[in-house]
Amino acid sequence: MSIFYSESDRIFHLFNEQISYIMTILPNGQLGQLYFGKKIHPQKDYSYLLEMVPRSMASYVFENERTLSLEHVRQEYGVYGSSDYRFPAVEILQKNGSRISDFRYKTHHIAAGKPALAGLPATYTEADSEAQTLTLVLEDPVTGVELKLYYTLFAQGGILARSAHFSNQGTEAVHLLKAMSLCMDLPDCDYDWIQFSGAWARERHPRVRHLEQGIQSVGSMRGHSSHEHNPFLILKRPAADEFQGEVLGFSLIYSGNFLAQAEVDTHSTTRVLLGINPEWFDWKLEPGESFQTPEAVMVYTNQGMNDLSQTFHRLYGRRLARGYWRDRERPILINNWEATYFDFTEEKILRLAETACKAGIELFVLDDGWFGKRLSDRAGLGDWRANPDRLPGGIDGLAEKIEKLGMKFGLWFEPEMVNKDSDLYREHPDWILSVPGRPQSQGRYQYVLDFSRPEVVDAVYQMMADILGSGKVSYVKWDMNRSITECWSAALPADRQGEVFHRYILGVYHLYEQLNTAFPQVLFESCASGGARFDPGLLYYAPQGWTSDDTDAIERLKIQYGTSYCYPVSSMGAHVSASPNHQVGRSTPLRTRANVACFGTFGYELDLNRLTSEELETVRRQTAFMKAWRSVLQFGTFYRLKSPFAGSTAAWMSVSQNQQTALVGWYRILNTPNPPYSRLKLAGLNPDFLYTVREGERILGKFYGDELMYAGLITTNGGSGEVLEGDGPGCDFDSRIYILERVQE
Ligand code: GLA
Repeated sequence: MSIFYSESDRIFHLFNEQISYIMTILPNGQLGQLYFGKKIHPQKDYSYLLEMVPRSMASYVFENERTLSLEHVRQEYGVYGSSDYRFPAVEILQKNGSRISDFRYKTHHIAAGKPALAGLPATYTEADSEAQTLTLVLEDPVTGVELKLYYTLFAQGGILARSAHFSNQGTEAVHLLKAMSLCMDLPDCDYDWIQFSGAWARERHPRVRHLEQGIQSVGSMRGHSSHEHNPFLILKRPAADEFQGEVLGFSLIYSGNFLAQAEVDTHSTTRVLLGINPEWFDWKLEPGESFQTPEAVMVYTNQGMNDLSQTFHRLYGRRLARGYWRDRERPILINNWEATYFDFTEEKILRLAETACKAGIELFVLDDGWFGKRLSDRAGLGDWRANPDRLPGGIDGLAEKIEKLGMKFGLWFEPEMVNKDSDLYREHPDWILSVPGRPQSQGRYQYVLDFSRPEVVDAVYQMMADILGSGKVSYVKWDMNRSITECWSAALPADRQGEVFHRYILGVYHLYEQLNTAFPQVLFESCASGGARFDPGLLYYAPQGWTSDDTDAIERLKIQYGTSYCYPVSSMGAHVSASPNHQVGRSTPLRTRANVACFGTFGYELDLNRLTSEELETVRRQTAFMKAWRSVLQFGTFYRLKSPFAGSTAAWMSVSQNQQTALVGWYRILNTPNPPYSRLKLAGLNPDFLYTVREGERILGKFYGDELMYAGLITTNGGSGEVLEGDGPGCDFDSRIYILERVQE
């Protein structure tokens, strides 16, 4: 890994074993982009990659010189209005009404390691040898605004982390109207665009289309990253697939409004922009003030989408997620939400906990309804004190009883919200986001607290810290169940209202940071009506997130498959729930529900006391299985093998770091009569290792890694496609987990 600057050629070349990233200082002092892709020879002059051909209708930077048109050169951080007509990375409104800026190279620094981004989640290093950071310092001579562009190149993987920092060193206030984290101009447009989209209960389904001249974009304006779109984008060559070909990934470490956009211009170059959504964004910078954008991460590989995902998994699992739980196997939990909803008493909870404990479950999570007057979703949010009618001994009393059974105790919060029927709202009606004189839209009968105000965040921290302080709560599920409306803060002047959405998210991050610091061993799981805020930003504070409110195993195949393109298995909350399922009414075998959920942070979310004794015995076997294999399942190298979006079977697998063990999940969505012979080509094994392959107690035989990867594992059903033995409703929705263990020859 190295960052190299050639003074004579005015070229920066960042490279490691996988990638090269090359920039140049353009004749007008702005920065031009030359190359991003597989590593090419470092010490060479690549200025020829800057092509400046005179073209009809172009506007040019220099008088009487038809060479430099910003529209026709690839740029590092494009501006609009001075010969570039594409959508820009930055827009700064000045006192005279102009929005044009001209950031020219001033100097640069190269340092080992990676600096932290104050107040924002970001990737990090544990040793300086893991990365190098280039800081390019640019300045706009008219406004005096200084722009720092950060590029961190990691030693391992084709990863570049980027962000921008603005500081107003001029004499007049300016307004930052657009400040993207990343602008990436690519020399052609022969890519498939893949976005990860959906809705509540069907989050992050991959959607593919070919790039065309014009703009494609996804984003959020809901105040959270959203169920609808994820701040993640893949551009892949049309012929690339899971195992080969050029693929680029762009991910934003942010939990609020975002924009991910690709613009293909008239000469087929592609500009990717990723950052805070400029819509409704207006950040005032007084002289002396500064602004840091969130971080964006770009990954390049020429080895297909599995390699891209594994690169993100390693980075986000080990160098974005932090703290005590980062590398630890995650506890098997039971959550009472789908078991009881709001209808519970302490006695009912304890009965569930007792059964759960006997079944081998390690953590009891008390979900919504334990606090204030929260008997339904119409009251109580904001009053984070136990309801003594439900929990006579308070949280500590219940937690102690649960601990006595032999389990840890966890608790649900929704810190950012308030019901009007709550003591908090009655005391502080001005603490919600709302516009004076206008109706206040509600969602799920609740309102959004103004987290842009430090005193609001502090008050919520105090209530949460009072509960967590006794040390009885070892897990927190942090929920967020509505989108933001009437985004206006009583604490900010008119010309700073465009800051509220971002200040809100900074408030969320601040509260998480305070709680992480004060309670370092508490395991946080993020949640937002399922997966509305399943983004890299929250992974920094909460190493796992509730992937979706949809707990149906078959729907979960799609959700977890789509989520895996960016996020590691260790981040995906996945539970076994009741059959018929509460979201889609589908009946699936208990084994399939567990076989899907075990590729996640595993748990149960159903009334175990309604199961038969045989089913409880199955649960006990499942928890034992999970304890035996979760290190591989949660921290192994994950491969997508067969997509649930295509065909009637799906498969994925995890391989241990030393390739000694692997677990393969095979899922039959719909049964096929008289099915074809089927083989599943495995991946990631050592070709020369001999493995025993078994499914439960059934030994299938011994096979070399190369046989399993190149000839494939036979998964053919009986000739009529009949069901395997086992529990549950048959045929459709069946599944198997194959266990591979290396044997000495
Ligand atoms: C959201 C969450 C659920 C549950 C409920 C409680 O919908 O996604 O898991 O916690 O809130 O109200």
